[in-house]
Amino acid sequence: MYLSREDFQSIRELVNRKTGLFFDEKKTYFVINRLSKRMEEIGCDNVKDYIRILGYDLEEFSNFIDSLTINETYFFRDYPQLRMFAEEILPLVCEQKRKKYNKTLRIWSAGCSTGEEPYTIAIILLEMIENLYSWRVEILGTDINRKALKMCRKAIYNERSLKDVPLEYREKYFIPSQEQDQYKYKIKDEIKKYVRFEYLNLNDGLRLQRIKNVDFIFCRNVLIYFDSNSCKEIISSFYTSLNKGGYIFLGSSESMSRISAAFKLVRFNNGLAYMKE
Ligand SMILES: C[S@@+](CC[C@H](N)C(=O)[O-])C[C@H]1O[C@@H](n2cnc3c(N)ncnc32)[C@H](O)[C@@H]1O
Repeated sequence: MYLSREDFQSIRELVNRKTGLFFDEKKTYFVINRLSKRMEEIGCDNVKDYIRILGYDLEEFSNFIDSLTINETYFFRDYPQLRMFAEEILPLVCEQKRKKYNKTLRIWSAGCSTGEEPYTIAIILLEMIENLYSWRVEILGTDINRKALKMCRKAIYNERSLKDVPLEYREKYFIPSQEQDQYKYKIKDEIKKYVRFEYLNLNDGLRLQRIKNVDFIFCRNVLIYFDSNSCKEIISSFYTSLNKGGYIFLGSSESMSRISAAFKLVRFNNGLAYMKE
């Protein structure tokens, strides 16, 4: 399929305005590939017509965004960072909260894809916090991709998603099954009950403002796909959502340095983390 420079730019601007996602010229082939699949799916053979449809048909716009997002994820991704969270930061924050008789924990996985990240966090809490049942725990997973959110709720994963899960946790927190010669793993209800999922577009500032009193935000491997102004707005919103003494975790290839100076960089034995003072 041929896509003119002008049409590529119209699509890119529309997507960027509505979602914050940014596609540079190097992604032209990727966009053409996803675009032609969507056009074929709805029986549209003219790019300009499809662009018009994207402008007024919310359902098709969502389908297009679903096809453009990169949903790569797996359990226990970035193990060293999670180790710092589990062994150093979580005990510190829990101790501060216990002293204030405030046994609540609110954690937000923003851009949770198919759910591996928020479920990993739930496993970590169960492993690290004694008598977790005596705490009020809420783990919120949000994403713009509706297909991914369906998979979050289904909570059935393949071997690839579990590649970094320690054997002990596989046996403890997953129920294995076999479907058409493929091994599948279902998350046990004792993990599922701590996690809830919602559709959320990170470019929707008003919606973001409504998420408050969060202790930890995980927004890992998401902002790399956004333009720098959108990143600044999202991070500033996250700052407001966080409690004082709360932490934000970005992906290993993402840095706060060009986005915000509001957070304090704290050094732990297992790495660095950004805290709201
Ligand atoms: C690569 S995945 C990261 C998953 C997980 N956080 C991890 O690190 O493994 C990026 C996710 O960001 C989501 N995303 C992209 N743009 C978004 C937006 N505007 N609002 C909410 N989520 C978005 C995508 O749908 C995708 O699931």
